[in-house]
Amino acid sequence: MAAKVEILELKRNSHPNNNWDKILNEVVKMEKKLFPKHESLARSFEEELRKKNTGLLYLELDGEVAGYVMYTWPSSLCASITKLAVKESCQRQGHGGSLLRAAIQKCRERKVQRVSLHVDPLRAPAVHLYKKLGFQVDALIRGYYSSDRDAYRMFLDFDAD
Ligand SMILES: CC(C)(COP(=O)(O)OP(=O)(O)OC[C@H]1O[C@@H](n2cnc3c(N)ncnc32)[C@H](O)[C@@H]1OP(=O)(O)O)[C@@H](O)C(=O)NCCC(=O)NCCS
Repeated sequence: MAAKVEILELKRNSHPNNNWDKILNEVVKMEKKLFPKHESLARSFEEELRKKNTGLLYLELDGEVAGYVMYTWPSSLCASITKLAVKESCQRQGHGGSLLRAAIQKCRERKVQRVSLHVDPLRAPAVHLYKKLGFQVDALIRGYYSSDRDAYRMFLDFDAD
């Protein structure tokens, strides 16, 4: 039987089972596994999500959280993708692309002109994925994550419509 895949928005108290805590726990667990401390939001997810104009989409695969993307639009001028991750055992099946497309669509709905993000150039799969979906490298930001870890700043501009 084909796996059931859904992309959902994490909303306080609005999930059918009201399981904000359960989902957030799974996201934090994944975050700890996939990111070193200097890149990790594991200790600050709640705080990040409390910020105005920040959203988290998660991908459920047969009822299990298998990935997530966080995005923010501080003003109507621009938005950022602040996190994207897919569980190791579920990678290379198109889920990262689906999550990123869904987050880009959320940003588009906010009428922003540009979506930006930072990514460690050593994260080749992520850099490939961002380029595949139209992001371009804007600048190399030295020491962005830590003294010896740089970041590409990337952007995707929307056409005026
Ligand atoms: C980046 C990440 C989210 C991609 O998720 P994914 O579900 O494997 O991605 P997809 O299956 O949708 O792949 C889409 C594209 O990404 C790129 N890609 C994914 N994995 C890749 C790999 N191992 N090597 C090269 N390119 C890769 C390819 O361009 C791929 O397109 P293709 O299949 O047509 O070649 C996942 O690898 C991940 O969670 N990595 C660890 C966390 C991370 O680096 N996050 C980003 C920084 S915040």
